[in-house]
Amino acid sequence: MKQFISVSDVKNIKALVEKALAYKQDPWKDQFLGHQKRIGCLFLNPSMRTRLSTQVAAQQLGMECIIFNVGAEGWALEFEDEAIMSGNTVEHVKDAAPVLGKYFDILAIRTFPSLQNKTDDYSELYINQFIRYAGIPVLSLESSTLHPLQSLTDVITIQESINGNAAFASRKPKVVLTWAPHVKPLPQCVANSFSEWINAWGEADFVITHPEDYELDEKFTHGATIVYNQDEALKDADFVYVKNWSTYKDYGKIYCNDPGWMLTEEKLARTRQAKVMHCLPVRRNVELSDEVLDGQNSIVTREASNRVWAAQAVLSEMLTALKEKNGA
Ligand code: CP
Repeated sequence: MKQFISVSDVKNIKALVEKALAYKQDPWKDQFLGHQKRIGCLFLNPSMRTRLSTQVAAQQLGMECIIFNVGAEGWALEFEDEAIMSGNTVEHVKDAAPVLGKYFDILAIRTFPSLQNKTDDYSELYINQFIRYAGIPVLSLESSTLHPLQSLTDVITIQESINGNAAFASRKPKVVLTWAPHVKPLPQCVANSFSEWINAWGEADFVITHPEDYELDEKFTHGATIVYNQDEALKDADFVYVKNWSTYKDYGKIYCNDPGWMLTEEKLARTRQAKVMHCLPVRRNVELSDEVLDGQNSIVTREASNRVWAAQAVLSEMLTALKEKNGA
């Protein structure tokens, strides 16, 4: 795997999921694979799970991991080509990225969208400029439109939950992605990414439910059933993935913020004892009720713990590709 920006960088999702689950069984089995290799993790935005799970995964592969909180500690970066840099930006990515490319073997980057400029956000301007100028493989730690390490984790978590369950010998699990209220406009990344991974995985009956006007980009959802009635969508679900996102068409807005869309025990009763997922961080009693998050159906902590195995499987594939390229 030369880079990891979206599901299209993965040749075989099922094999990658199996690889991640094998690392979960034996975390140190490739502890020398990353010997004398270094990953730089650049955060233009905050993180807990992505930062720490990537660091743990790199260490378990024997790789050095250096974290740089660019957003808080670095120079303000300019991304526009031919910019006249007389404003607040101090350094152009065209100058910074090649330097980073000399320090590291792999560059990992988190860059959130502005939610102001749909064209820039959906062209993935920030991460693409790093890919263009760094000269080394790039790994997404969440970009403007996608969060592939989260989505790989989500597929791993669903696969792990259905393994050995006789109910799924004769049918696919019903997976429902449900919009939830929030206090501020959030990116569409997690929902876009979850949709494209579940569609590409092909092992679920996939339903998306949200209020009207919250339609996601069809490029990611194509193949899923869209239902505007949440109660109807939740019926007989095996997995419910809860996530807020702001509007895509009239970009970055909050139209409806109906608290009635919060996932509660009452709503969960419509499902087949569905496992409840959320990428975290979560706004308790806004997106999901305390009862659901603290209840026996919630698998959010296991889901977050699986971030390590997703990162380790991806780093392992990227290290192997690097070694092949260098003739090692
Ligand atoms: N789910 C997720 O990406 O968490 P962090 O923002 O804490 O990394």
